[in-house]
Amino acid sequence: MKQPDDDLEIQFADHLAIVSERWQAALGAAGFDAAVITAGEPVNNFLDDQAPPLKLNPHFLQWCPSETAEGSALLIRPGERPHLFFLRPDDYWHQPPDVPVWAAGFEVTSFSERTMLLEAVRQAALRAANRVALIGNSGGDAFHDLPEDGTNPAGLLNHLHFERAVKTEFELTAMTEATRKAVRGHLSARAAFDAGASEFEINLAYLGAAGQLPAELPYQNIVALNEHAGVLHYQHYDRRPPSVRHSFLIDAGGSHLGYASDITRTYAAGSGLFAELIEQMDTAQQALLDQIAAGTPYLDLHVAMHRRLGEILSDSGLLRCSGEEAFDAGLTEAFFPHGLGHLIGLQTHDVGGQQTSPEGGQTPPPENYAALRLTRTLDDRIPVTIEPGLYFIPQLLDAALKSDAGRHVNGALIETLMPCGGIRIEDNVYLRDGALVNLTRQAFADSA
Ligand code: GLY
Ligand code: MN
Ligand code: MN
Repeated sequence: MKQPDDDLEIQFADHLAIVSERWQAALGAAGFDAAVITAGEPVNNFLDDQAPPLKLNPHFLQWCPSETAEGSALLIRPGERPHLFFLRPDDYWHQPPDVPVWAAGFEVTSFSERTMLLEAVRQAALRAANRVALIGNSGGDAFHDLPEDGTNPAGLLNHLHFERAVKTEFELTAMTEATRKAVRGHLSARAAFDAGASEFEINLAYLGAAGQLPAELPYQNIVALNEHAGVLHYQHYDRRPPSVRHSFLIDAGGSHLGYASDITRTYAAGSGLFAELIEQMDTAQQALLDQIAAGTPYLDLHVAMHRRLGEILSDSGLLRCSGEEAFDAGLTEAFFPHGLGHLIGLQTHDVGGQQTSPEGGQTPPPENYAALRLTRTLDDRIPVTIEPGLYFIPQLLDAALKSDAGRHVNGALIETLMPCGGIRIEDNVYLRDGALVNLTRQAFADSA
């Protein structure tokens, strides 16, 4: 059987051709004739010689998907091969990196010192072009004589960010592999939960099975037992299991060559209303997936989910009104306060989700859905997450109870579910020739 990495190598040439075309058009439109992309470098903690884990510049990674390129830089000139200025320190304290395999078709020059590398990039850029843009948040001091408006220029970034939503075959394959890693972790985490493990132990089970170090993850795993599931970005790992287990929410992804997956599942420890609500949310999430087609505005999906949630809350008796009334009164917003999802790719919350056009402009969501990160229209090869939630968050439910529509809220029934925290079900999906590909459910099915 062909391994994913074989596919990736074959697809990388096409990927580079597409990325080159996009950069050529974007540079032209923004009035630049070359760009330097710095990969980024670690910054030590205050008064310390230790640095937090570094995430490389995603623009660098799209050209050269190597995590071992810190301190390096790329010079991009339309019509020329990319030039990688590669930092390989003479260092016996650390293992020096090798030139990334992905740079095989690039012009490559290696340097052992950062200052020499930056000076060489600067000189090459100035020799090659009149107007050079710098993309990155490091190395700026070395490029003082580039155009004043040339550091992370909005005109250039807008083009790149808008188009980045549409993924190449290479990127989709990398995301498929990032999903497979995460699903291995999810299966192991669930087994650990069933065995009575603590949040800390569940997280270790996840990391081991996914084969990912915490620093490699696209975002910090959310491993939440019981009421912790109602904290949207719960960040701790209790060392001890709770005395009674009600629920388990895990929001954990994986990364492959810089590309992310972002997956959430929720489980009930036993049968009863909470378990039924999970089933209903799962059904609603899949019904929503069936609605996705080229040309679907993402906001429509978000609103449709609020309507479905109104029905669930009404049918279950959590609200004593119809689903329609619940939606109209805004009551569903107290149970589902975040957005339905976001773009995903080189970043978990990929850039450009509210961008109106390649030229720029933003389409913000309606005020009552301020947390919605994605307001664009869906189309082929644009991976997004679909992650509806139903939470029991005291702060929000107290406010709902005190509101005009508070008489509809069944406080006594909600109280019984508070120890379960909440539900989120999150898949990563995209359209291929108009047909939905569900990366997440496909990976779970493949590992069954
Ligand atoms: N894991 C963060 C999110 O789902 O957006
Ligand atoms: Mn997400
Ligand atoms: Mn998530």
